[in-house]
Amino acid sequence: MTVANVIQQQLERSSWIRRMFEEGIRLKAERGEENIFDFTLGNPSEDPPPGVLATFRRLAEANAPGSHGYMPNSGYPAAREAVARNLRRDTGVEFTGHSVVMTVGCAGAMNVALKAILDPGSEVIIPKPFFPDYQFYVTNHGGQVVFVETREDFSLDVAAIESSITPRTRVIILNTPNNPTGVIYSAAVLRDLESVLQHADHPIVALSDEPYKSIVYDGAKCPELASIISNCVITTSWSKKWGLAGERIGYLAISPRLPGADALSNACNFTNRVLGFINAPAIWQLVSAEAPGESTDMAVYQEKRDLMCGGLAKIGYEVSKPQGAFYIFLKTPIPDDLEFVRLLQGEGVLAVPGKGFGRGGYIRLSLTVPKDTIARSLPAFARALAKLPAQCSEL
Ligand SMILES: Cc1ncc(COP(=O)(O)O)c(C=O)c1O
Repeated sequence: MTVANVIQQQLERSSWIRRMFEEGIRLKAERGEENIFDFTLGNPSEDPPPGVLATFRRLAEANAPGSHGYMPNSGYPAAREAVARNLRRDTGVEFTGHSVVMTVGCAGAMNVALKAILDPGSEVIIPKPFFPDYQFYVTNHGGQVVFVETREDFSLDVAAIESSITPRTRVIILNTPNNPTGVIYSAAVLRDLESVLQHADHPIVALSDEPYKSIVYDGAKCPELASIISNCVITTSWSKKWGLAGERIGYLAISPRLPGADALSNACNFTNRVLGFINAPAIWQLVSAEAPGESTDMAVYQEKRDLMCGGLAKIGYEVSKPQGAFYIFLKTPIPDDLEFVRLLQGEGVLAVPGKGFGRGGYIRLSLTVPKDTIARSLPAFARALAKLPAQCSEL
């Protein structure tokens, strides 16, 4: 056996998202692309903003001397300083270029931070439902996952978090706006969490996973976590905000209020290297430094959210509108989400079962499909509902 047992086991548990996406490829070949409505993958549908692409072209054309060589592992000083400047403006916290490490996407940032923080057996609290790769990021670095349920409305249950803290707890992962639920954690709940973290008898890092921060609806604003939580490390990327997921550009930023912030920054410089990333993609660091104000048109996602939520509610589904991110976490009309996913599949709709995110009885639908796909899929959702025995479909 060439593959490590632990990886073999992880592969078996791993992503429902990928599994359903691959099932989609098979079904499209079998039934024709236009008859399959694939809501599985969160691959941003919108092109990068024109200003971002123009900056990229200009920098590529300029081909400045040395621009393809090694650089400091944490990234170009100009890119790090640009991130710090924006964070100072948005959070009021005195981030500096030294607080920032440019990374290979947000996933890279999380792994770099976790490798720098965790010892074997260190515990990491993850509120459920959760982005499934978190559990692997934690075990990558010898950590142990401690899951905590959220409340009925998927807001943080701070009392449950408090009671799950042990002397081995080193990190809590927070993701707001949340994938898969679309919930934005309120400033009040974050203040309660800050109080719990401040009363802990050792530092616990809030690892704030923020790739969806700018994707919010109805004029909502996602509270600045770093303004509220002292012991915080932000991880994020331009994957969703600029539709650049394939370019792998992100960063981590360590709050100067975190005890040992400077030492952690040096440690992340090292872990970025020894994880094999070395540094983040050079040209995209430069683009990020020069086009910071740009953003994709979020109105498109809001239109799709409204079309999908409105359509599903009209058919008879119990819908809760996401406040941010680009997913709908839909309650299934029967408790067994896997069974309902199979029923939808029969009608040509592909969705990820909530079980894959640690919460059965729900499915996740990604809004990164074209608007037309949403409109054409609604009759299929109606047919699936109609196939349930009458007592089951009473939501
Ligand atoms: C919640 C969450 N965190 C992190 C990531 C990873 O982002 P990136 O592609 O920038 O590495 C994703 C990607 O879908 C995500 O949904």
